[in-house]
Amino acid sequence: MIKKIPIAELQPGMYLHDAICGWRVEPIFSFRFKVVDAGQLERLRELGVREVYIDTALGDDLPGAPTEEEVRRALEAELVNLASCGELPIHHRLAAQEEIAAALEIHNHASRLIRQLMTDIRLGHQVEFDAVGEALSSITDSVLDNFGTLIQLGQLKTADDYTFQHCVGVCALLTGFCRLLEFNRQTTYDVGIGALLHDVGKMRVPLDILNKPGRLTAEEFDAIKLHVDHGRDIVAGVPWVGATALNVISHHHERFDGTGYPAGLRGTEISYVGQMAAIVDVYDAITAERVYHRAMEPAEALRKLHEWSRFHFNEELVAHFIRSIGIYPLRTAVNLESGLIGIVLEQNPADLARPVLLAVFDARKERPLSPYRVDLATDSWDRILGYVNPERYGIDVGRCLQAA
Ligand SMILES: [Fe+2]
Repeated sequence: MIKKIPIAELQPGMYLHDAICGWRVEPIFSFRFKVVDAGQLERLRELGVREVYIDTALGDDLPGAPTEEEVRRALEAELVNLASCGELPIHHRLAAQEEIAAALEIHNHASRLIRQLMTDIRLGHQVEFDAVGEALSSITDSVLDNFGTLIQLGQLKTADDYTFQHCVGVCALLTGFCRLLEFNRQTTYDVGIGALLHDVGKMRVPLDILNKPGRLTAEEFDAIKLHVDHGRDIVAGVPWVGATALNVISHHHERFDGTGYPAGLRGTEISYVGQMAAIVDVYDAITAERVYHRAMEPAEALRKLHEWSRFHFNEELVAHFIRSIGIYPLRTAVNLESGLIGIVLEQNPADLARPVLLAVFDARKERPLSPYRVDLATDSWDRILGYVNPERYGIDVGRCLQAA
């Protein structure tokens, strides 16, 4: 059985199944092993791990600790609560083909620009920052106007080109987040510039470390951490990178409990936009396919962020971020009390727990359905129990949506 326990309760003899940490740590540390000595516990604490999951079939138990399923149910209930409080979220709906095509063009253009800029920096070429500023400002403007569709392009990410796509992905997500928080256009624009440049310092990290598929040594991880300082150095003195953008670059790896880097800032010592950037950076990273981990479903990633927010992020901001995407993001497969499996087509801003769905499968009869729309806000007594992995039911989400 998988159970969740605080790090203080972890003892030699227990089998570590997963760690709850403010960033994805697989490249640094394997998280599936039997704990044998105190040195391993110390290393986990150093990495900022505050809670862990243990596998009681493979190691010692902690009686009374909640099971993974109990934790999951509690998280789901907390998310549904989040959905019904606060200001009105953004009204997301599946984009039409032409909107997707336009967003793709923006996305590709932005990725190319960022790639060019970053490659020039890596090769030590002189960067014409005035020209780059103009190009980035036009991109940021387009992102501001199209972030809803750009967020949906997140699923197009591939393992290659990760760094460039990540910059554009973070820019779209952060822009949507700013919009939900009703930032003015200028501030949103400055945050967008910071997002596009937030990892520019990675171009001074040796490529063999940056792209290493295996686990990183402590020294290699230190070299990666330096990308934040490198980034600040690169943009120092560039007139169009203002204080807001600089805060995004400087603070995107700080953690609310002080376990982040480079400065180990805590709470409100971290700028507000830096706290926002930290959340979005992790969300975009864990939903991407990488050499060392599979892409996590957006719904699953939001639950992880919520779980981690107890220590590592500003909890209130995580709640806002989740609301900026929807607790059941577009294209998420969900199961209903009636046994229907549906795919989220459109958010209901008044109640994120009751979106518009495309019903595609009947889990009770174990058979696919001729797809039809279900609007949980108006025409159904049914309700969502949680998100499900569509593969479990043989559902191809892309194909279902195309056929609908
Ligand atoms: Fe980074």
